[in-house]
Amino acid sequence: MTESLSDLAERLRRIPNLLADEGKVDALLRTHTIDQTALAPYVRYEDGRYTRNCVYRNGIFELLVLCWAPGARSPIHDHGGNRCWLVPQTGSFSIDDYTRIEGGRRPGPVRLEQCASAPLELGDIDARGIDELHDIHAVYVDRPSISLHVYAAPIGRYLVYDWQHGSCDARSFAAQDVLDYVI
Ligand SMILES: [Fe+2]
Repeated sequence: MTESLSDLAERLRRIPNLLADEGKVDALLRTHTIDQTALAPYVRYEDGRYTRNCVYRNGIFELLVLCWAPGARSPIHDHGGNRCWLVPQTGSFSIDDYTRIEGGRRPGPVRLEQCASAPLELGDIDARGIDELHDIHAVYVDRPSISLHVYAAPIGRYLVYDWQHGSCDARSFAAQDVLDYVI
């Protein structure tokens, strides 16, 4: 079924216990695709970066459109103890997973190990539990990419990890943040 972003937000709002029932969110995102014209009001690109554009947010979840400049990459990050779902809308992504070997629960020294790497294409969905780390890379370097994200609950404070220097730092999101992560 193809529908608007506001319809999707309403369907998410109707899940009785969204925080506990990730299976219903999974099923909803797998069976309802977004009309691409509905993305237009939320498409905003910044050179070399990705932007977060909030469609809907309440105390339970947030629905965002992320717009990725060609080749843009997120830092390695956690999700502040929240669940997240990523659904590609245009383009192609690659996701690397990490585990904490030492530290990494609070700002300070950390040792991580990469444990997996997988492509994420149109029709795929990436669902994350509350304690997982990953980074996301927009694969295409000649065109931008767009992804749809659901976070339950909305992410406030979270951690980003510098693998090379063995450290992690706290960050916090505002809905319309342009993230200053250069390719
Ligand atoms: Fe993530």
